[in-house]
Amino acid sequence: MTRLPLIVANWKMHHTVAEGLMFVSRLQKAFYPTDKLEVVLCPPFTALYSIAVALGEDTKIKLGAQNCHFAENGAYTGEISPLFLKELNCSHVILGHSERRHIFGETNADLAKKVAAAVRHGLLPIYCVGETEIQRAQGRTWEIIQNQLQEGLEHLGAAFPGDLIIAYEPVWAIGTGQNATPQQAGEVHQQIRHWITIRAGQSIADSVRILYGGSVKPSNIKSLMSEPNIDGVLVGGASLAVDSFVQIINYGDPK
Ligand code: PGA
Repeated sequence: MTRLPLIVANWKMHHTVAEGLMFVSRLQKAFYPTDKLEVVLCPPFTALYSIAVALGEDTKIKLGAQNCHFAENGAYTGEISPLFLKELNCSHVILGHSERRHIFGETNADLAKKVAAAVRHGLLPIYCVGETEIQRAQGRTWEIIQNQLQEGLEHLGAAFPGDLIIAYEPVWAIGTGQNATPQQAGEVHQQIRHWITIRAGQSIADSVRILYGGSVKPSNIKSLMSEPNIDGVLVGGASLAVDSFVQIINYGDPK
């Protein structure tokens, strides 16, 4: 089973509209879209519209958001509906990033509603899971991740989508410069795939892409992507500059 490698840029709260547009124009010159991998940019909400226009209709570079609400509309001041994202040509949405969980207090129960809403509206969730440093030291890594999977994907019911994307992001590796080794990540990815097999069957488990995130950079992308169960990466810091992001894309391309 071949899974198309997926490289996702998570800009977090970086890049104004002008900076985002500059990035896209430089990226379009430096990277020639290929059928051998997918690239998704996740800018802040404010830059989505302009970047969607800059990318154009038949772009191969896809657009994602960093979060969304579960409701279509309503009295939710400051929130963004999945419908609004669809209107802006977003195909993907990151849900449950560790910063959303730990800084903004999002729970697995909140995320279960968001994941189900995203799927219902035709957005592909990039559902993030990962343990903290203390939880790893306590030997609780799999317990935590299994819980995040079980509770956060609960509302998908029997209709577990084969195009769902899961991102394993150990909290201790995010923004620290200290990535999980390919072996550490590979082990968790293998457990996640096994969990999906039990939950949804072999063919779904074979098609779900599992990304690694946490201090991905040009110097470690190749070894991470050589792990059989690592199907792509979610890149924070190193996705902010075109040069490093393009280097990551190139190493992720198995051609
Ligand atoms: P990082 O962030 O690449 O800067 O570690 C990854 C992420 O938070 O998705």
